[in-house]
Amino acid sequence: MSGHGAAQPMTSEKSGPLSGTAAVPGDKSISHRALIFGAMAVGETRITGLLEGQDVLDTAKAMQAFGAEVVQHGPGAWTVNGVGVGGFQEPADVIDCGNSGTGVRLIMGTMATTPITATFTGDASLRKRPMGRVTDPLSLFGTRAYGRKGGRLPMTVVGAESPVPVRYALPVASAQVKSAVLLAGLNAPGETVVIEREPTRDHSERMLLGFGATLNVEKTAEGHVITLQGRPELRPQTVAVPRDPSSAAFPVCAALIVEGSDILVPGVSQNLTRNGLYLTLVEMGAAIEFQNPREEGGEPVADLRVRFSDAMKGIEVPPERAPSMIDEYPILSVVAAFATGKTVMRGVRELRVKESDRIDAMARGLEACGVRIEEDEDTLIVHGMGAGGMPGGAVAKTHLDHRIAMSFLVAGMAAQKPVSVDDGSPIVTSFPIFEGLMNGLGARIRRG
Ligand code: S3P
Repeated sequence: MSGHGAAQPMTSEKSGPLSGTAAVPGDKSISHRALIFGAMAVGETRITGLLEGQDVLDTAKAMQAFGAEVVQHGPGAWTVNGVGVGGFQEPADVIDCGNSGTGVRLIMGTMATTPITATFTGDASLRKRPMGRVTDPLSLFGTRAYGRKGGRLPMTVVGAESPVPVRYALPVASAQVKSAVLLAGLNAPGETVVIEREPTRDHSERMLLGFGATLNVEKTAEGHVITLQGRPELRPQTVAVPRDPSSAAFPVCAALIVEGSDILVPGVSQNLTRNGLYLTLVEMGAAIEFQNPREEGGEPVADLRVRFSDAMKGIEVPPERAPSMIDEYPILSVVAAFATGKTVMRGVRELRVKESDRIDAMARGLEACGVRIEEDEDTLIVHGMGAGGMPGGAVAKTHLDHRIAMSFLVAGMAAQKPVSVDDGSPIVTSFPIFEGLMNGLGARIRRG
């Protein structure tokens, strides 16, 4: 879905106390990977709890275009009949990954070591994002890529005829780049090695092991050294997708800033590569209880009881925590505006190449809501105004970015005057039930 439909303005008014249970949908990262790994296995992979957000639906369509059979059986229940490692067929048409950087980068990796050619595109946001970070390491396998200036989509990728294995140290902390290289390594003979200095989300590694690949992760002075044996036969799996901690962040943060709230958010991942926001909130003084710790879908999870917290304090977020909360800085900066003192987020330059430049989008929107902000290329600082202190009364620009849209709608729930967004339509990419779920807890979010 590269064409972007009409903008959908939305408004969030001050909400009464939130109560009830916020059952958020499946994890986006794991949903993409379940479809892609399913397509690389021979036989039928069964998936439950799949996120049916537009990003994931675009990946499902892409897997069909490469020859896998992907069928929906009911809400969240899907099967994938895979074609095997190296079995991708050449797609008949352009692959449109919509808004999804994860989709396009992982799929490029997956086809990069099969001798087929595919052309990729996406929406106006995705066409601005850098693909060189993926095509550079893929070229080491023998893959060629031809895109627009600056390595932008649309881009044609010519898979390597005779791929060679690769040893690659990640220059940026990126699970997408790591995963693209590992996926390409699947169809290269011998050992492909990826080295990451700071650990990023490890869903690809967990899933590779689950599907029967041979993979070893060694912790060394250089960082994590991940070694994958090429050309395995992947065995189909049953994948139960756990709930998305990045989506859970929205009701959790809303409850923290809306007076009188007390909600339960079940099954939130405690995977150390994803839980940075929750550690940060606790350090700020958030009232979050982690109840009933257990495993779900191969991930450690807990139920979160979250209560209004009127005495949160701004903190310095440790920069090394960034990879484990990279998608949560927009909503953290909203919580920071309702804390006292300043919240300093350093080492966050990656936010500039997400679905939008998230430092700029949050800074401009929060300023319009009356919040004092400082920023530089790699830093965002929010000066808190205390519980209920944000004036609001502004329209934030979302720049085709779902997390910017949801963050400002949450801000409106606790600000003195309503907060609007110019376009809430991108919310369907990751959290299609956001509006209904939040209003079910007591929010007053409406179209227009
Ligand atoms: C993702 C990795 C992160 C994250 C994105 C999902 C993934 O991107 O921002 O939403 O599923 O691998 P980077 O790899 O660019 O950090």
